[in-house]
Amino acid sequence: MPNQPFLQLATTRRSVRRYQQRPVPRQVLERCLEAARLAPSAMNAQPCSYILVDDPVLRDAVARFTFNAIVSFNRWTLSAPAFLVVLNRSSSLARVGATLQGRSWQQVDTGLAAAHFCLQAAEEGLGTCILGWFGEQRIKRLLRIRREYRVALLVTVGYSAEEPCVKERKLLSAILRYNREGE
Ligand SMILES: Cc1cc2nc3c(=O)[nH]c(=O)nc-3n(C[C@H](O)[C@H](O)[C@H](O)COP(=O)(O)O)c2cc1C
Repeated sequence: MPNQPFLQLATTRRSVRRYQQRPVPRQVLERCLEAARLAPSAMNAQPCSYILVDDPVLRDAVARFTFNAIVSFNRWTLSAPAFLVVLNRSSSLARVGATLQGRSWQQVDTGLAAAHFCLQAAEEGLGTCILGWFGEQRIKRLLRIRREYRVALLVTVGYSAEEPCVKERKLLSAILRYNREGE
């Protein structure tokens, strides 16, 4: 993909579930957060804030709150050298969106910020994986997160110990229509 650096980046970014134990410099993580900070949001509400968890004891505890004996598919998080905890807070704007439009702008905004973070991480040579499955209340207690905040997402981040693989995606022809959806 010559001269298409963004498309190249979007192609190489993938979820990484096995990490080297090498720590990630905070300076590098802060550049990824700068990309998240610059993400768009509905009416520029900027509902997200972040906690970077790189302390080994806390990081291990966060990892243990992403799986249990029955739902074990996130056990791999124990190898992650750092977690980004993405918080958001309900605003009157978000409530307007939910009431009048029947959709959560806050969730959209959070997804965009997480995507910016992951893409900048890929640019920095880091692997990430967004996690939607975790014990929110336990993480809130552990990290002393105030009641009014939700833990929207976790993102693991570190240097990958995996081989690159091919992405499985629907073909563009299956998901794109011009002008009208139906006949
Ligand atoms: C909102 C969201 C929640 C996710 N939750 C998890 C999760 O709990 N555990 C996990 O291993 N992957 C999780 N993923 C990663 C997806 O499985 C992954 O993005 C998808 O399979 C596409 O693969 P790729 O990211 O390598 O392109 C999540 C992704 C998103 C966007």
